Amino acid sequence: KSECELQEKIAQMSLREKIGQMNQLIVSHADIEEKIKNSDVGSVIIINDEDIERSIQQKQLAAKYTDIPLLVSTDVIHGYKTIYPIPLACSSTWNPELIKQVAYHSAQESAADSTDWIFAPMVDVSRDLRWGRIAESAGEDTHLNTVFSRAWVEGIQESGSIAACVKHFAAYGAAEGGRDYNSAQVSERILREVYLPPFKEAINAGCKTIMMAFQDLNGIPASIHPLLYKILREEWKFDGVIISDYNAILELLDHGVAEDLKEAAYLAIQAGIDVDMMSNAYSLHLADLVQEGRVDEKLIDASVMRILQLKQELMADQVHTRVKEEGNTALQTALESAVLLKNESSLLPMKSDPESIALLGELADDSASLLGTWSFLGEPEKTDSIHQVLSQRFAKSAVIYNDGKDLKKASEIAKQCEKVIVVIGEQASMSGEAHSRSHPAIPQEQIELLKALKALDVEVIAVVLSGRPLILTEAEALCDTILLAWHGGTYAGQAIAEILLGEFNPSGRLTCSFPRSVGQVPLNYNHRNTGRPVLGEGITQFAEAYKSNYIDETNEALYPFGFGLSYSQLEYKDLKVLNPTLKKAQSLQVQITVTNLSDRDCFETVQLYIRDLVAQTARPVKELKAFKKLLLKAGESRLVEISLPSDELGYYNWNNDYQVDSGLFDLWVGPNCKAEASAQFRLED
Ligand code: IFM
Repeated sequence: KSECELQEKIAQMSLREKIGQMNQLIVSHADIEEKIKNSDVGSVIIINDEDIERSIQQKQLAAKYTDIPLLVSTDVIHGYKTIYPIPLACSSTWNPELIKQVAYHSAQESAADSTDWIFAPMVDVSRDLRWGRIAESAGEDTHLNTVFSRAWVEGIQESGSIAACVKHFAAYGAAEGGRDYNSAQVSERILREVYLPPFKEAINAGCKTIMMAFQDLNGIPASIHPLLYKILREEWKFDGVIISDYNAILELLDHGVAEDLKEAAYLAIQAGIDVDMMSNAYSLHLADLVQEGRVDEKLIDASVMRILQLKQELMADQVHTRVKEEGNTALQTALESAVLLKNESSLLPMKSDPESIALLGELADDSASLLGTWSFLGEPEKTDSIHQVLSQRFAKSAVIYNDGKDLKKASEIAKQCEKVIVVIGEQASMSGEAHSRSHPAIPQEQIELLKALKALDVEVIAVVLSGRPLILTEAEALCDTILLAWHGGTYAGQAIAEILLGEFNPSGRLTCSFPRSVGQVPLNYNHRNTGRPVLGEGITQFAEAYKSNYIDETNEALYPFGFGLSYSQLEYKDLKVLNPTLKKAQSLQVQITVTNLSDRDCFETVQLYIRDLVAQTARPVKELKAFKKLLLKAGESRLVEISLPSDELGYYNWNNDYQVDSGLFDLWVGPNCKAEASAQFRLED
């Protein structure tokens, strides 16, 4: 239908029917059938298995009673039934094309179960490992979050007749102290520079809907923050549907900005929320507010127009033939997301036939923990544990498993065995929404196990499962090799085995700095210089007097942003800036030769960082601006060319306007943010 026809349709609808379209409830809600018959609900949320059957029935019911379809929404965060690595791990692949496939297949799998609307991607820049939802982000960097934002949106929406919902607008990842739902204090300039670009990219990629964040932003709940709506609707011209987060309109009372639910409904509609998720604020109070003359019915009509347009678009979208994902993408993503953090005396890769392997730690036998947060339909019973997979893959070895709780027993097994693999880290339930941690390190009982093994003087290969960056300082000193496998999904066990055996050369790179201690948090590579930067950062352990550092800790990360080892040695040489003086309309042209010095093929992620040396505001000491992931054959040398449009070299000035300055820039190209090859270039008007 054209906009005109929809307008006619809306003119025929009663106020109650219109408000019904703006109401979203969980499909298991007690009187949902009644509500659908009375046109009191426009969309439903599903969470678990039972909800799927119900949602199909409710869709049919809606079709019988009204000609407006009911939308079924759900959280497909890293897979539906086939679970992929958590999004933080997905970003560690530095492979947006692959992640687009992840999004595509996840969306298709959920669409087969009646889903129309997916509450993803989460694109909140996250710089605090205490925050449980860091698991759902692409980490600490704005450029990476922006690149992956597009990949997720395109993947979801290209799967056919599904709307993506970029979330949580905005700065949810800046929760103070990393405590979920906590306040965020972010200046408008930093908001625009750090937190907003991934949202803008999602919208430019055609994302149909957006979810407002729960927390307050500088004292105003994000759900009703006028600046956020101004940016969305006026500056970015976003004309899609805006939804509140779960119960967030009701939570305006707890924020202390509304006296009762009616006032909360008033604030929400005036701000611009189209769909009320689960607060019942609109269904209970909007009609009265209109009748009292406090809310103009035109506001409601405008929201309903957006909702009906969304429904119409989804119904008109071509429903693609559902392609069943046979696990290839999930396995490939688990392989590419694992990060080799340490490999002392090249313990890895292992030979396929050691006489015996001690496999220690209860996580080795915990399939659910491979799946991670947001994996309600993930079928742990169909997911092979690390123990199961290693027993099959090391068929010629005796794999002796022990949960590691009895240190004496575990030590005895370790002493007898030729190789020792310990699985440590977090269970699935230790990260995700409302799962912030104040001590995000390896749990103490696992450290005790590592200490017991250290005392035996055996070489320890550690596999770390985790939903966040962890403080690994203590564990690092106790292990010879560390493979970070995250919560890698349905095929994580298989991926871990392939990497241990050297069938896949590890290639994941960190998208978050791993701090040495919680006291360093937030620790991001792209910090500003300060007026008193330390000179010997990372070189000396001693604090420099009257410099921006600690008296008891360096400023350095244990593992820096972009870092990850492989089984190959790489060489970077001959960095060249082809146009060291360039005009603002031009692109910077950079070349470097990268050589795989090893006798095995490898992936290498070439990263380009810049620093704007003088600007109106203090600029980060380094900013990732581009990257290229290459497959290099054994012994292969490749000339890598990177082109960077100079309009990407700008920043937000004192007035919060974007500007590109002429002047001198530093540039680095290399394997991580500590890249050594450097050059300079000058941008001219
Ligand atoms: O989509 C989620 C959101 O990220 C957190 N609150 C609940 C929503 C719906 O499940």
